[in-house]
Amino acid sequence: MKKFLAMMLALAMVASLAACSSSSSSSDTTAAETEAATEAAETEGTDETEAADSTTGDGELITVGFAQVGHESDWRTASTQSCQDVFCEANGYELVFVDCDQDSAAQLDAVRNFIEQDVDYVIIDPIVSTGWDTVLTECEEAGIPVIVIDRTIDDSDNYTAWVGSDFTAEGYAAGEWLNAYAEAKGIEISGILVIEGTTGSSAQLGRTEGFQEIADNYGWTILDSQDGDFTEAGGQEVMESYCQSYSGQFNVVICQNDNEAFGAMTAMDAAGITYGVDGDVILISFDACTAGLEYVQAGSINADFECNPLAAPFVAEIIESLEAGEEVESTVYMTEHWYVAEEDVLTSITVNGEEQELTYVTDEIVEAQY
Ligand code: AHR
Repeated sequence: MKKFLAMMLALAMVASLAACSSSSSSSDTTAAETEAATEAAETEGTDETEAADSTTGDGELITVGFAQVGHESDWRTASTQSCQDVFCEANGYELVFVDCDQDSAAQLDAVRNFIEQDVDYVIIDPIVSTGWDTVLTECEEAGIPVIVIDRTIDDSDNYTAWVGSDFTAEGYAAGEWLNAYAEAKGIEISGILVIEGTTGSSAQLGRTEGFQEIADNYGWTILDSQDGDFTEAGGQEVMESYCQSYSGQFNVVICQNDNEAFGAMTAMDAAGITYGVDGDVILISFDACTAGLEYVQAGSINADFECNPLAAPFVAEIIESLEAGEEVESTVYMTEHWYVAEEDVLTSITVNGEEQELTYVTDEIVEAQY
């Protein structure tokens, strides 16, 4: 039933996205610009309701304020695009979009500015998982429902719903795949290096915890685990220092997103270290956006554990249910796949007693990806 609902929703969204692609109702601003706009409205004597009305036009559109993490990765670009496509005028929405540039203080300011603007709904993709209690209470007092997407908030449950990924499950899957792959290929794991995502984000916390648990089970040595901030530059910088410090001591690199993996590949190329299907180092990534899958298909990344960025249609469904006065699901997990470069090595892995399918990357899969 869930699958059927998801399919109907997807079909409905295809129709509405086509309508949206020709008209843009979203206002893309930085946190500072939004704050400045709010201050200007106050200076001009516009009260909060009037400020909101100026963004809603005739008042029929549903205003949605979205405090996005930033623009650090391909994944983030896909997430932003999905929200802008779904929350457009043709679908009955006015989107106030704020790119918080990975700055937690700016993200709190963005949410407070949404309250000032009296938006109908707030969407938050929390940069870090703590520090949210006060501002969520402020949203509640203002009567604005909050929907959290992607990353989780761990120090408050004062929001209406969350739609996102099970990051710990992604970490477990990466670990079990590595164990099964190394066994199948007769590779002994000598040392593992991890390039983590933004410290304190639930994506970093979950992937680290899940993989660490599997590493502990199999007695693997994690030589080092440093923050690459989910960026290509961060991944390259951390890998450059790893290549110097751990030369000859490692044969597995885990990057907690695709962009870090791109940077790590640049650093390993410069250091003369080979990786991927025909290389000396097993390279594992998370996200599986189009460019990541292209590297998997080419054999440069051995396995890529998907993090699905297309939450927006599910958020729209939640908002529509709330508008209709209906109950909503408080937790929605995105469907995700585990992608591998080699067809003939493994077709599935067992994670916590459950058999999980592996997907071999083909042209069709790359073309259909976000
Ligand atoms: O929260 C999702 C993570 O954030 C993605 O893995 C990463 O690419 C992004 O920056």
